[in-house]
Amino acid sequence: MSDPVRVGLVGVGIIAETHLAVLAERPEVSLEFTADPRLAEPPEFRGARPPHHGSLAEALEEHRPDLIVLATPTATHADLVVQALTRSTARVLVEKPLVHDLASLARLVESPGGAADARDRVFTAHHFAFSPEVLWAAEQIAAHEEWGPVTGITSAFYDPYVLRGEDAFTSYVSSWTDSGVNQLSMLSRLVDLTALVSVRRMDGGASAWCVCEYRSRGRVGTARLRTSWLAGSSSKETVLTLGDSDVEIWIDHTAMTGFVAGGGELLATHGDDGRTPRKIAHYRPLYDSLLSDRPDPVLGFGVATTITELYHATPPDDRDR
Ligand SMILES: NC(=O)c1ccc[n+]([C@@H]2O[C@H](COP(=O)([O-])OP(=O)(O)OC[C@H]3O[C@@H](n4cnc5c(N)ncnc54)[C@H](O)[C@@H]3O)[C@@H](O)[C@H]2O)c1
Repeated sequence: MSDPVRVGLVGVGIIAETHLAVLAERPEVSLEFTADPRLAEPPEFRGARPPHHGSLAEALEEHRPDLIVLATPTATHADLVVQALTRSTARVLVEKPLVHDLASLARLVESPGGAADARDRVFTAHHFAFSPEVLWAAEQIAAHEEWGPVTGITSAFYDPYVLRGEDAFTSYVSSWTDSGVNQLSMLSRLVDLTALVSVRRMDGGASAWCVCEYRSRGRVGTARLRTSWLAGSSSKETVLTLGDSDVEIWIDHTAMTGFVAGGGELLATHGDDGRTPRKIAHYRPLYDSLLSDRPDPVLGFGVATTITELYHATPPDDRDR
Protein backbone atom coordinates (compact mmCIF):
# COMPACT_ATOMS: atom_id res chain seq x y z
CA MET A 1 0.00 0.00 0.00
CA SER A 2 0.99 3.67 -0.33
CA ASP A 3 3.14 5.30 2.32
CA PRO A 4 1.71 7.07 4.25
CA VAL A 5 -1.42 4.95 4.61
CA ARG A 6 -4.39 7.23 5.35
CA VAL A 7 -6.86 5.25 7.47
CA GLY A 8 -10.53 5.96 8.18
CA LEU A 9 -11.97 4.10 11.17
CA VAL A 10 -15.72 3.49 11.19
CA GLY A 11 -17.28 2.34 14.48
CA VAL A 12 -15.45 3.38 17.62
CA GLY A 13 -16.49 0.68 20.10
CA ILE A 14 -14.67 -2.11 21.92
CA ILE A 15 -12.62 -3.67 19.15
CA ALA A 16 -11.77 -0.27 17.67
CA GLU A 17 -9.52 0.26 20.71
CA THR A 18 -7.31 -2.62 19.53
CA HIS A 19 -7.23 -1.29 15.95
CA LEU A 20 -6.25 2.18 17.21
CA ALA A 21 -3.52 0.78 19.49
CA VAL A 22 -1.94 -1.29 16.68
CA LEU A 23 -2.36 1.42 14.03
CA ALA A 24 -0.69 3.96 16.36
CA GLU A 25 2.44 1.73 16.44
CA ARG A 26 2.83 1.87 12.66
CA PRO A 27 4.84 4.88 11.49
CA GLU A 28 3.43 4.73 7.95
CA VAL A 29 -0.18 5.10 9.19
CA SER A 30 -2.04 8.37 9.66
CA LEU A 31 -5.57 8.41 11.02
CA GLU A 32 -7.54 10.45 8.50
CA PHE A 33 -10.92 10.30 10.27
CA THR A 34 -13.19 8.39 12.60
CA ALA A 35 -16.94 7.92 12.10
CA ASP A 36 -19.53 6.83 14.66
CA PRO A 37 -22.99 8.31 15.29
CA ARG A 38 -22.76 7.48 19.01
CA LEU A 39 -19.77 9.70 19.76
CA ALA A 40 -19.64 13.49 19.71
CA GLU A 41 -15.86 13.49 19.91
CA PRO A 42 -13.28 11.05 18.51
CA PRO A 43 -10.78 9.15 20.67
CA GLU A 44 -7.21 10.40 20.96
CA PHE A 45 -4.71 9.02 18.49
CA ARG A 46 -1.03 9.77 19.18
CA GLY A 47 -2.09 12.62 21.45
CA ALA A 48 -4.38 14.36 18.92
CA ARG A 49 -8.00 13.97 17.86
CA PRO A 50 -8.67 13.22 14.17
CA PRO A 51 -11.65 14.74 12.31
CA HIS A 52 -14.83 12.93 13.42
CA HIS A 53 -18.03 12.32 11.46
CA GLY A 54 -21.46 10.91 12.20
CA SER A 55 -21.33 8.46 9.29
CA LEU A 56 -19.02 6.92 6.68
CA ALA A 57 -20.96 8.67 3.88
CA GLU A 58 -20.36 12.05 5.49
CA ALA A 59 -16.66 11.27 6.06
CA LEU A 60 -16.14 10.22 2.43
CA GLU A 61 -17.40 13.61 1.23
CA GLU A 62 -14.29 15.16 2.79
CA HIS A 63 -11.62 12.44 2.89
CA ARG A 64 -9.82 10.12 0.46
CA PRO A 65 -8.56 7.28 2.69
CA ASP A 66 -6.29 4.46 1.48
CA LEU A 67 -7.78 2.04 4.00
CA ILE A 68 -11.24 2.03 5.60
CA VAL A 69 -11.55 -0.08 8.76
CA LEU A 70 -15.13 -1.14 9.56
CA ALA A 71 -15.48 -2.00 13.26
CA THR A 72 -19.26 -1.67 13.53
CA PRO A 73 -21.94 -4.20 14.58
CA THR A 74 -22.03 -7.23 12.30
CA ALA A 75 -25.44 -6.48 10.75
CA THR A 76 -24.14 -3.12 9.43
CA HIS A 77 -21.10 -4.57 7.61
CA ALA A 78 -22.67 -5.25 4.21
CA ASP A 79 -24.16 -1.74 3.84
CA LEU A 80 -20.92 -0.09 4.88
CA VAL A 81 -18.76 -2.28 2.62
CA VAL A 82 -20.96 -1.39 -0.37
CA GLN A 83 -20.66 2.31 0.55
CA ALA A 84 -16.88 2.00 0.88
CA LEU A 85 -16.60 0.18 -2.46
CA THR A 86 -18.81 2.60 -4.36
CA ARG A 87 -17.76 5.92 -2.79
CA SER A 88 -14.01 5.41 -2.36
CA THR A 89 -11.04 3.63 -3.91
CA ALA A 90 -9.79 2.43 -0.51
CA ARG A 91 -8.91 -1.08 0.57
CA VAL A 92 -11.52 -2.14 3.17
CA LEU A 93 -10.79 -4.12 6.32
CA VAL A 94 -14.06 -5.42 7.77
CA GLU A 95 -14.34 -6.85 11.25
CA LYS A 96 -15.34 -10.49 11.28
CA PRO A 97 -17.76 -11.90 10.39
CA LEU A 98 -17.78 -10.23 6.97
CA VAL A 99 -21.60 -10.42 6.73
CA HIS A 100 -24.44 -11.93 8.71
CA ASP A 101 -26.31 -13.68 5.88
CA LEU A 102 -25.95 -14.99 2.33
CA ALA A 103 -28.05 -12.22 0.82
CA SER A 104 -25.51 -9.71 2.12
CA LEU A 105 -22.68 -11.71 0.57
CA ALA A 106 -24.52 -11.60 -2.76
CA ARG A 107 -24.92 -7.81 -2.39
CA LEU A 108 -21.14 -7.42 -2.16
CA VAL A 109 -20.55 -9.57 -5.23
CA GLU A 110 -23.24 -7.64 -7.14
CA SER A 111 -21.99 -4.19 -6.10
CA PRO A 112 -21.08 -1.95 -9.10
CA GLY A 113 -17.42 -3.08 -9.19
CA GLY A 114 -18.55 -6.71 -9.06
CA ALA A 115 -16.82 -9.76 -7.57
CA ALA A 116 -13.38 -8.67 -8.84
CA ASP A 117 -13.57 -5.39 -6.92
CA ALA A 118 -14.68 -7.21 -3.75
CA ARG A 119 -11.86 -9.75 -4.20
CA ASP A 120 -9.23 -7.03 -4.69
CA ARG A 121 -10.36 -4.58 -2.03
CA VAL A 122 -12.33 -6.35 0.72
CA PHE A 123 -10.45 -8.05 3.56
CA THR A 124 -11.91 -9.61 6.69
CA ALA A 125 -10.19 -9.34 10.06
CA HIS A 126 -9.94 -13.10 10.73
CA HIS A 127 -7.69 -12.28 13.65
CA PHE A 128 -7.72 -15.70 15.31
CA ALA A 129 -5.78 -17.13 12.38
CA PHE A 130 -2.92 -14.80 13.43
CA SER A 131 -2.84 -15.81 17.10
CA PRO A 132 0.70 -16.95 18.03
CA GLU A 133 -0.33 -20.43 19.21
CA VAL A 134 -2.26 -21.02 15.96
CA LEU A 135 0.73 -19.99 13.83
CA TRP A 136 2.89 -22.26 16.01
CA ALA A 137 0.51 -25.21 15.58
CA ALA A 138 0.49 -24.69 11.80
CA GLU A 139 4.31 -24.75 11.79
CA GLN A 140 4.32 -27.97 13.85
CA ILE A 141 1.92 -29.70 11.47
CA ALA A 142 3.90 -28.57 8.42
CA ALA A 143 7.24 -29.63 9.93
CA HIS A 144 6.13 -33.11 11.08
CA GLU A 145 4.73 -35.05 8.16
CA GLU A 146 5.51 -38.23 10.16
CA TRP A 147 2.75 -37.34 12.62
CA GLY A 148 0.26 -37.86 9.79
CA PRO A 149 -2.88 -35.89 8.86
CA VAL A 150 -5.10 -34.11 11.36
CA THR A 151 -7.79 -36.76 11.90
CA GLY A 152 -9.90 -35.12 14.60
CA ILE A 153 -10.46 -31.64 16.07
CA THR A 154 -12.37 -30.54 19.15
CA SER A 155 -12.60 -26.81 19.88
CA ALA A 156 -14.48 -24.94 22.63
CA PHE A 157 -14.77 -21.14 22.67
CA TYR A 158 -16.44 -19.53 25.70
CA ASP A 159 -17.09 -15.81 26.24
CA PRO A 160 -18.74 -14.35 29.37
CA TYR A 161 -21.29 -12.29 27.40
CA VAL A 162 -24.41 -13.62 29.13
CA LEU A 163 -24.61 -10.56 31.41
CA ARG A 164 -24.42 -8.20 28.40
CA GLY A 165 -27.91 -9.45 27.45
CA GLU A 166 -29.42 -7.97 24.28
CA ASP A 167 -26.34 -5.79 23.66
CA ALA A 168 -24.32 -8.95 22.97
CA PHE A 169 -26.84 -10.04 20.33
CA THR A 170 -26.87 -6.53 18.78
CA SER A 171 -23.09 -6.44 18.42
CA TYR A 172 -22.34 -10.11 17.70
CA VAL A 173 -25.65 -11.72 16.50
CA SER A 174 -25.10 -15.09 18.28
CA SER A 175 -22.30 -17.12 19.85
CA TRP A 176 -21.98 -19.22 16.71
CA THR A 177 -21.89 -16.21 14.37
CA ASP A 178 -19.28 -14.57 16.59
CA SER A 179 -17.04 -17.40 17.84
CA GLY A 180 -17.89 -19.93 15.13
CA VAL A 181 -16.31 -17.59 12.60
CA ASN A 182 -13.22 -17.36 14.82
CA GLN A 183 -13.08 -21.15 15.04
CA LEU A 184 -13.52 -21.64 11.29
CA SER A 185 -10.94 -18.99 10.40
CA MET A 186 -8.50 -20.46 12.95
CA LEU A 187 -9.07 -23.95 11.47
CA SER A 188 -8.56 -22.67 7.94
CA ARG A 189 -4.94 -22.04 8.99
CA LEU A 190 -4.56 -25.74 9.98
CA VAL A 191 -6.75 -27.78 7.59
CA ASP A 192 -8.87 -27.33 4.43
CA LEU A 193 -12.47 -26.85 5.49
CA THR A 194 -14.87 -28.60 3.12
CA ALA A 195 -18.38 -28.88 4.56
CA LEU A 196 -20.61 -28.10 7.46
CA VAL A 197 -22.32 -31.28 8.68
CA SER A 198 -24.66 -29.67 11.22
CA VAL A 199 -25.17 -26.70 13.52
CA ARG A 200 -27.48 -26.68 16.53
CA ARG A 201 -28.10 -23.35 18.20
CA MET A 202 -29.12 -23.47 21.84
CA ASP A 203 -29.92 -21.04 24.68
CA GLY A 204 -31.64 -18.59 22.34
CA GLY A 205 -28.47 -18.25 20.23
CA ALA A 206 -26.12 -17.84 23.22
CA SER A 207 -24.66 -21.34 22.63
CA ALA A 208 -24.10 -23.70 19.72
CA TRP A 209 -22.74 -27.12 18.69
CA CYS A 210 -21.35 -27.49 15.20
CA VAL A 211 -19.80 -30.37 13.28
CA CYS A 212 -17.84 -29.79 10.10
CA GLU A 213 -15.62 -31.73 7.74
CA TYR A 214 -12.20 -30.89 6.43
CA ARG A 215 -9.29 -32.43 4.54
CA SER A 216 -5.77 -32.77 5.90
CA ARG A 217 -3.01 -34.35 3.81
CA GLY A 218 -5.67 -36.00 1.66
CA ARG A 219 -7.69 -37.47 4.58
CA VAL A 220 -11.19 -36.40 5.59
CA GLY A 221 -11.56 -35.46 9.25
CA THR A 222 -14.30 -34.19 11.55
CA ALA A 223 -14.19 -31.03 13.67
CA ARG A 224 -16.51 -30.61 16.67
CA LEU A 225 -17.01 -27.00 17.64
CA ARG A 226 -18.65 -25.78 20.86
CA THR A 227 -19.37 -22.08 21.42
CA SER A 228 -21.19 -20.47 24.34
CA TRP A 229 -21.72 -17.15 26.14
CA LEU A 230 -22.90 -18.92 29.32
CA ALA A 231 -19.50 -18.74 30.95
CA GLY A 232 -17.84 -17.19 33.99
CA SER A 233 -14.83 -16.04 32.01
CA SER A 234 -13.30 -16.22 28.58
CA SER A 235 -11.79 -19.64 27.77
CA LYS A 236 -10.83 -20.96 24.36
CA GLU A 237 -9.08 -24.21 23.57
CA THR A 238 -8.56 -26.53 20.60
CA VAL A 239 -7.23 -30.11 20.49
CA LEU A 240 -6.04 -31.74 17.26
CA THR A 241 -5.47 -35.48 16.93
CA LEU A 242 -2.93 -36.48 14.32
CA GLY A 243 -2.74 -39.56 12.16
CA ASP A 244 -3.29 -42.97 13.58
CA SER A 245 -0.56 -42.28 16.12
CA ASP A 246 -1.55 -40.89 19.48
CA VAL A 247 0.02 -37.49 18.79
CA GLU A 248 -2.14 -34.60 19.98
CA ILE A 249 -1.64 -30.84 19.67
CA TRP A 250 -3.30 -28.80 22.42
CA ILE A 251 -3.58 -25.06 21.88
CA ASP A 252 -4.95 -22.70 24.51
CA HIS A 253 -6.11 -19.53 22.74
CA THR A 254 -6.70 -17.65 26.00
CA ALA A 255 -3.16 -18.18 27.31
CA MET A 256 -1.65 -18.27 23.76
CA THR A 257 0.17 -21.49 24.64
CA GLY A 258 0.44 -24.97 23.21
CA PHE A 259 2.06 -28.36 23.49
CA VAL A 260 2.36 -31.56 21.52
CA ALA A 261 2.09 -34.91 23.32
CA GLY A 262 2.73 -38.37 21.91
CA GLY A 263 2.39 -41.38 24.17
CA GLY A 264 3.85 -40.36 27.51
CA GLU A 265 6.22 -37.89 25.86
CA LEU A 266 6.11 -34.10 25.61
CA LEU A 267 7.20 -33.53 22.01
CA ALA A 268 7.05 -29.73 21.68
CA THR A 269 5.89 -26.69 23.64
CA HIS A 270 4.91 -23.11 22.94
CA GLY A 271 4.87 -20.49 25.71
CA ASP A 272 4.06 -16.81 25.84
CA ASP A 273 6.20 -14.15 27.50
CA GLY A 274 3.12 -12.46 28.95
CA ARG A 275 4.10 -9.04 27.58
CA THR A 276 1.54 -8.62 24.81
CA PRO A 277 -2.22 -8.47 25.39
CA ARG A 278 -4.03 -11.18 23.42
CA LYS A 279 -5.87 -8.97 20.93
CA ILE A 280 -2.77 -6.89 20.22
CA ALA A 281 -0.91 -10.17 19.58
CA HIS A 282 -3.56 -11.02 16.95
CA TYR A 283 -3.89 -7.66 15.24
CA ARG A 284 -0.16 -6.78 14.96
CA PRO A 285 0.61 -9.61 12.50
CA LEU A 286 -2.79 -9.09 10.87
CA TYR A 287 -1.91 -5.48 9.99
CA ASP A 288 1.64 -6.52 8.97
CA SER A 289 0.02 -8.84 6.45
CA LEU A 290 -2.80 -6.52 5.34
CA LEU A 291 -0.46 -3.60 4.65
CA SER A 292 2.04 -5.77 2.77
CA ASP A 293 2.10 -6.37 -1.00
CA ARG A 294 0.63 -9.85 -0.52
CA PRO A 295 -2.01 -9.99 2.23
CA ASP A 296 -2.45 -13.50 3.67
CA PRO A 297 -5.26 -15.38 1.88
CA VAL A 298 -6.96 -15.93 5.26
CA LEU A 299 -7.85 -12.20 5.15
CA GLY A 300 -9.16 -12.42 1.60
CA PHE A 301 -12.65 -12.44 0.16
CA GLY A 302 -12.31 -16.12 -0.85
CA VAL A 303 -11.85 -17.42 2.70
CA ALA A 304 -14.59 -15.08 3.99
CA THR A 305 -16.91 -16.44 1.28
CA THR A 306 -16.08 -20.06 2.19
CA ILE A 307 -16.74 -19.39 5.87
CA THR A 308 -20.00 -17.53 5.17
CA GLU A 309 -21.22 -20.29 2.84
CA LEU A 310 -20.24 -23.03 5.31
CA TYR A 311 -22.17 -21.30 8.05
CA HIS A 312 -25.27 -20.99 5.88
CA ALA A 313 -25.03 -24.52 4.44
CA THR A 314 -27.39 -26.01 7.04
CA PRO A 315 -31.19 -25.85 6.88
CA PRO A 316 -32.56 -22.74 8.68
CA ASP A 317 -34.33 -24.96 11.23
CA ASP A 318 -31.01 -26.35 12.31
CA ARG A 319 -29.39 -22.96 12.51
CA ASP A 320 -32.13 -21.21 14.45
CA ARG A 321 -32.90 -23.82 17.07
N1 LIG B 1 -15.30 -6.97 20.86
C1 LIG B 1 -14.45 -7.87 20.40
O1 LIG B 1 -13.64 -8.45 21.16
C2 LIG B 1 -14.41 -8.19 18.94
C3 LIG B 1 -13.34 -8.96 18.49
C4 LIG B 1 -13.22 -9.21 17.13
C5 LIG B 1 -14.21 -8.75 16.28
N2 LIG B 1 -15.27 -8.04 16.72
C6 LIG B 1 -16.27 -7.60 15.74
O2 LIG B 1 -16.20 -6.18 15.64
C7 LIG B 1 -17.50 -5.65 15.37
C8 LIG B 1 -17.83 -4.59 16.41
O3 LIG B 1 -17.77 -5.20 17.69
P1 LIG B 1 -17.55 -4.30 19.00
O4 LIG B 1 -17.41 -5.26 20.11
O5 LIG B 1 -16.50 -3.29 18.81
O6 LIG B 1 -19.00 -3.58 19.06
P2 LIG B 1 -19.39 -2.26 19.83
O7 LIG B 1 -20.87 -2.30 19.93
O8 LIG B 1 -18.56 -2.08 21.05
O9 LIG B 1 -18.96 -1.06 18.83
C9 LIG B 1 -19.56 -0.82 17.60
C10 LIG B 1 -19.53 0.69 17.33
O10 LIG B 1 -20.03 0.93 16.02
C11 LIG B 1 -20.86 2.08 16.05
N3 LIG B 1 -21.76 2.04 14.91
C12 LIG B 1 -22.92 1.35 14.76
N4 LIG B 1 -23.44 1.53 13.53
C13 LIG B 1 -22.58 2.36 12.89
C14 LIG B 1 -22.57 2.92 11.59
N5 LIG B 1 -23.53 2.65 10.68
N6 LIG B 1 -21.55 3.76 11.25
C15 LIG B 1 -20.56 4.03 12.14
N7 LIG B 1 -20.52 3.52 13.40
C16 LIG B 1 -21.52 2.70 13.76
C17 LIG B 1 -21.55 2.01 17.39
O11 LIG B 1 -22.05 3.30 17.77
C18 LIG B 1 -20.43 1.50 18.28
O12 LIG B 1 -19.70 2.57 18.87
C19 LIG B 1 -18.48 -6.84 15.34
O13 LIG B 1 -18.67 -7.25 14.01
C20 LIG B 1 -17.72 -7.93 16.11
O14 LIG B 1 -18.07 -9.23 15.66
C21 LIG B 1 -15.38 -7.73 18.04
